[in-house]
Amino acid sequence: MTRTAVYPGSFDPITNGHVDIIRRTLQVFDRVIVAVAFNPNKDSSWFSPVERVAMISDTFRAEGDRVSADSFSGLLVDYAVAKGAAAIVRGLRAVADFEYEFQMTSMNRHLKPQVETIFMVAGESHFYVSSRLVKEVASLGGNVAGLLPDNVLPRLLERARSHRPGQ
Ligand code: PNS
Repeated sequence: MTRTAVYPGSFDPITNGHVDIIRRTLQVFDRVIVAVAFNPNKDSSWFSPVERVAMISDTFRAEGDRVSADSFSGLLVDYAVAKGAAAIVRGLRAVADFEYEFQMTSMNRHLKPQVETIFMVAGESHFYVSSRLVKEVASLGGNVAGLLPDNVLPRLLERARSHRPGQ
């Protein structure tokens, strides 16, 4: 029996923190679906869902079908059930993440009690990495090398040029 995990998020864009969580998840599950959530009516993302999925696919090309990238709109629990996932995986960095994650997990459990959520703790070198901060630093000209997969860095730097403050 193949055990599949759904790892949802905005992934705008995928960072090395996400990569770390996906690699840890692969040690426990047979397959991971990295699921880019998007809201067609409200989106201030730097990258389109198609671009975000492409960056994730490029990052995990060597893993073959153990890692797939997809996008969804609508409820995460409905998506997880439709994909036959054994669990939703979320990453935790610091205590500050816990309250938001606890609230989301409790709501998801209210919606679909049969869907479990499992938390993976990020490696400590990733505790301060988030897509939001990486974008902010890049847009202000800071160095974000090493925080993103190699294929993502040039795409982020290119996009940062159009997100400079005052533009
Ligand atoms: O990376 P993020 O932005 O912290 O991920 C949040 C995400 C995408 C997991 C969350 O917003 C989500 O599940 N969105 C899908 C819509 C949904 O199911 N909303 C109810 C969540 S309790």
